[in-house]
Amino acid sequence: DSLWLIVPAAGQGKRMGADKPKQYLEIAEQSILTHTLQRLYAAFPQAQLVLCLDNDDQWFNPAWVPFPHWQRVTGGVERMGSVLNALQAMPAQAADVVMVHDVARPCVTPEDLRALYQAASEHPDGALLAMPVADTMKRASVDQLSVATVPRDGLWHALTPQGFRYALLREALEYAVDNGCIVTDEASAVEALGRTPLLVSGRRDNVKVTHPGDLALASAIMASQVA
Ligand code: CTP
Ligand code: MG
Repeated sequence: DSLWLIVPAAGQGKRMGADKPKQYLEIAEQSILTHTLQRLYAAFPQAQLVLCLDNDDQWFNPAWVPFPHWQRVTGGVERMGSVLNALQAMPAQAADVVMVHDVARPCVTPEDLRALYQAASEHPDGALLAMPVADTMKRASVDQLSVATVPRDGLWHALTPQGFRYALLREALEYAVDNGCIVTDEASAVEALGRTPLLVSGRRDNVKVTHPGDLALASAIMASQVA
């Protein structure tokens, strides 16, 4: 079976508030998109890449794609639409493994990538990188008063990549769209079918670059990983 990688990169980076989408901001003189694709390529050079990009993207440079086998698809209004466009455009077989990884997570390591691929291949309901919640969790009222403490036992942060067999992931996202559900990751859509993806404990430094301070954080993490 083949391995496919879907990289949703059609976001606008509104919370970052930069003059261009955050995937085109630079760390060590390379775009975040370049770093992310290079990390994926180092782990899976034979994989087929599907890159979701906005139609109005003025910054993408195809020279940044290291993969010999890749295609570009149009992004959707939401992340899930971008991923579904990729699934509908790619000529995959039902049993192929598909791993979805946010372009905004450039710090993912080869060990975590390989562990997730292994789990996604073995587990029929797929798998996702995740980490147990460390902080005490509060439930807030609308006026931001702390009204309850949510027990953190059994609570995890969902990261990417998330990997599933092609047929399952496509069924799950089409089901979500048909039912008007907006899901922020693939595992949520799979759970809505009553399936139970495996949580694979991943590194805490696999951060998603989201807010302005995260650029310096990701830069420091990447420097620490090279050393
Ligand atoms: N994404 C996408 N298509 C969209 C929205 C998001 O492909 N319509 C991608 C982003 O490019 C990113 C990932 O989904 O790789 C996670 O989304 P997020 O971190 O929310 O990125 P943005 O949507 O760009 O940021 P913001 O929500 O702050 O605008
Ligand atoms: Mg977003």
